[in-house]
Amino acid sequence: MAAVIANDGAQNPSVQEYYTSWESRIGYWLLLGNTRHCGLYLKGTLWPFPVSKAQRAMEDQLFNQLGLEPGSLVLDAGAGSGYVAMHLAEKGLKVHAIDITPLHVGDARRNIKARGLEDHVAVDLADYHDLSNFTDGSFDGIYTMETFVHADNPANVLRNFYRLLRPGGVLLHNEADFNRNSALLQDVLRLSHCQNTLEEGALSQMLQEVGFVNVQVEDLTEEVLPLWRLFGAIGYVPYRILHLFGLHTRFTNLMAGVESYLHWGEGRYISVRSVKP
Ligand SMILES: C[S@@+](CC[C@H](N)C(=O)[O-])C[C@H]1O[C@@H](n2cnc3c(N)ncnc32)[C@H](O)[C@@H]1O
Repeated sequence: MAAVIANDGAQNPSVQEYYTSWESRIGYWLLLGNTRHCGLYLKGTLWPFPVSKAQRAMEDQLFNQLGLEPGSLVLDAGAGSGYVAMHLAEKGLKVHAIDITPLHVGDARRNIKARGLEDHVAVDLADYHDLSNFTDGSFDGIYTMETFVHADNPANVLRNFYRLLRPGGVLLHNEADFNRNSALLQDVLRLSHCQNTLEEGALSQMLQEVGFVNVQVEDLTEEVLPLWRLFGAIGYVPYRILHLFGLHTRFTNLMAGVESYLHWGEGRYISVRSVKP
């Protein structure tokens, strides 16, 4: 099997514990409007606002990379509050969204109803490790937007995706991977339930092992930097104070934001497209 970040999972919070903590809820709402993914900027951009515009640009990138016909059916695995799914539905795709966190599924349902998109986006509470309720070959496309990092068994999840795609179907991952397994990174990953996040190059290898072909990796690290620079700048002083008192690991998002920026270069943001033959 391809290399993964190994971590003792004994004390790790669950995905749901991580996302329903008050720090996560307030942080994602305040800084990202509950759309829990990076923005996409032109290289060299310094000013990160409006963040929502950059987030829509990232969703456009995902839509373009999928390259599917209008009316195609796609699975959004780890949909959060449904913003990516709604954007893609407004661009003509039919989306089946799933998420493991009940709080997010409730949010997504409310958001979809408010936008009148119930006929275009379905939402279920489900774990992408168990997709046995879905029929073989039933999707034209599947995507993960910053959620595959949480997978406990990435190879198993990829096998599920392979089964659900029709021949010629497209799988797209917009995710992080890491090239250095430092102690601070280990802490950030463990505390945000990302203990099996793949190391650099491992996702491509794993996709091929599962049977996917035409695996293409686009490196978007420079294009997501402006938002992480913002996280680093606004979080630095509070983080340092908490660090002084040994309290920093209680604020996972703050820690992730500042440490990721300080250790920029130990990881990449990649968009990986692959096809089921
Ligand atoms: C960083 S958020 C991204 C949400 C959404 N894709 C977006 O871009 O706004 C990660 C999401 O993945 C969900 N998730 C994590 N593990 C999952 C699993 N095993 N099955 C389904 N959803 C999962 C979390 O509940 C969370 O909503």
